[in-house]
Amino acid sequence: MAGEDGKAGVRKGLSIVVLAAGLVVLAIAAVVLWRYAGTGAGPAGGAVRIDAGDAALVALGRKVYAANCAACHGAGREGEPDWRSRKEDGTLPAPPHDESGHTWHHPDGMLFVITRSGGQAVAPAGYESGMPGFAGTLTDREISASIAFIKSHWPPEIRRRQEQITRQSQ
Ligand code: HEC
Repeated sequence: MAGEDGKAGVRKGLSIVVLAAGLVVLAIAAVVLWRYAGTGAGPAGGAVRIDAGDAALVALGRKVYAANCAACHGAGREGEPDWRSRKEDGTLPAPPHDESGHTWHHPDGMLFVITRSGGQAVAPAGYESGMPGFAGTLTDREISASIAFIKSHWPPEIRRRQEQITRQSQ
């Protein structure tokens, strides 16, 4: 009989551990969902895929880019001069979006989140990013389009590598 009680005790202990672990998972999920609510993208951009082979999307992106991104990132996606050195206010200049830049090192979802919510959304605490968010100005399709336009100019090898980075992030 005593053995039975012991087993029941262990079972009870175990179920408390399972319950506590479940609560921790739920709490983390809630924070993640709250932070990225409405983006359709997870922390690293989740399931977002942006098709640079979609001619209509790229054509829209060309217009969106010229009107909203070129002022900082350059009409030819060349970025600001000396883009790796901080400015006087401590922020970094706008980087190029061509293959010489850093943009292609990020998966599609991350590029989407940065453009939608701003650089601050993915930056560590205390980091100040000069990249504004476009959630209030552009629709999600326009945001995807601007990225599709950028991607469509990368050489095939860079496109292949960035596609792999996107696949690995999902
Ligand atoms: C007011 C200037 C400004 C405008 C306008 C702007 N950006 Fe940026 N963007 C920046 C700066 C500055 C950074 C670098 C931020 C950092 O490193 O903290 C950046 C970074 C980025 C990055 C991250 C690149 C990387 O390698 O991490 C992406 C993607 C991006 N911008 C896309 C866009 C798109 C798309 C548009 C237009 C819809 C746009 N930006 C408009 C200033 C701008």
